[in-house]
Amino acid sequence: MLELNPLCPGFGLETADIDLARPMSDEAFAELERAFFAGQVLVLRGQSLTPTQFVAFARRFGPPEPHVIDQFHHPEDPNILILSNVKKDGKPTGLQDAGSYFHTDYSYLQVPARATTLYSIVVPRVGGNTLFANQQAAYDDLPEAMKKRIDPLYGIHHYGNRHDTDERSRTAASPLTAEQKAKMPLITHRIARPHPVTGRKSLYAVSGSSFGIVGMPDDEACDLLDELALHSTQPKYVYSLSYGVGDVVVWDNASLLHSATLIDPDDARTLWRITVLEPAPVGMAPQVIAPTYATGGM
Ligand SMILES: [Fe+2]
Repeated sequence: MLELNPLCPGFGLETADIDLARPMSDEAFAELERAFFAGQVLVLRGQSLTPTQFVAFARRFGPPEPHVIDQFHHPEDPNILILSNVKKDGKPTGLQDAGSYFHTDYSYLQVPARATTLYSIVVPRVGGNTLFANQQAAYDDLPEAMKKRIDPLYGIHHYGNRHDTDERSRTAASPLTAEQKAKMPLITHRIARPHPVTGRKSLYAVSGSSFGIVGMPDDEACDLLDELALHSTQPKYVYSLSYGVGDVVVWDNASLLHSATLIDPDDARTLWRITVLEPAPVGMAPQVIAPTYATGGM
């Protein structure tokens, strides 16, 4: 029986009781996966993994999907995206300032991310935390009238950050090349989205890559999304995770928003990231949307 401790009241579990470098039986993984869905954030402290071992672990949660930003894929395995502010010979070794705003990974894909896992390699002297906001609790707490209002609605998503579309900003989404942008169509997901495994509803990606609502004028849609984002990122829903060297964190993108936090660019920090997809598309909007891609600020 795995010894798990709560990270905070309401969600998040951690353990120092597991070594991911060793073989794990299907039964042991099933227990871990149940803890993952129950806790939404799962932290496995103090690991020591090769790229192959890290990918093998992530793969048990779902099929890995290499990030659209392919400049910083790990040389030994493209499923790993290197997040780092460390420079070698004057060149960046990884993606810096990735996702420093509340968002849900890959909500701009029709089959979005089930889980994201980070493996902490170099920990900065100060900060470097990841913030998680519990979107199940945020949905549960909505007034009934708001639940009724948003229940039939679909958000429109594309790559980017609705609140910061200046590509040069440190809190914008990492810029894409023209070729990378061309691969990114508009996507829809329910705003009150049932969890694909547990069925529990969450507010889904109301901050980050949601840019509109199907059938609603843009200004009205953004007002509603902003209202929901303000509600769902209140401190009472947020946990701030700090990393030790070797920590592996896995989080449930269907029920959380998360945000990186900015650190001093000269304070070295490196993480490896793998994102795995849900098994199949769920809950697409019935309406057909013209596949125009909004320009500016990805
Ligand atoms: Fe992210």
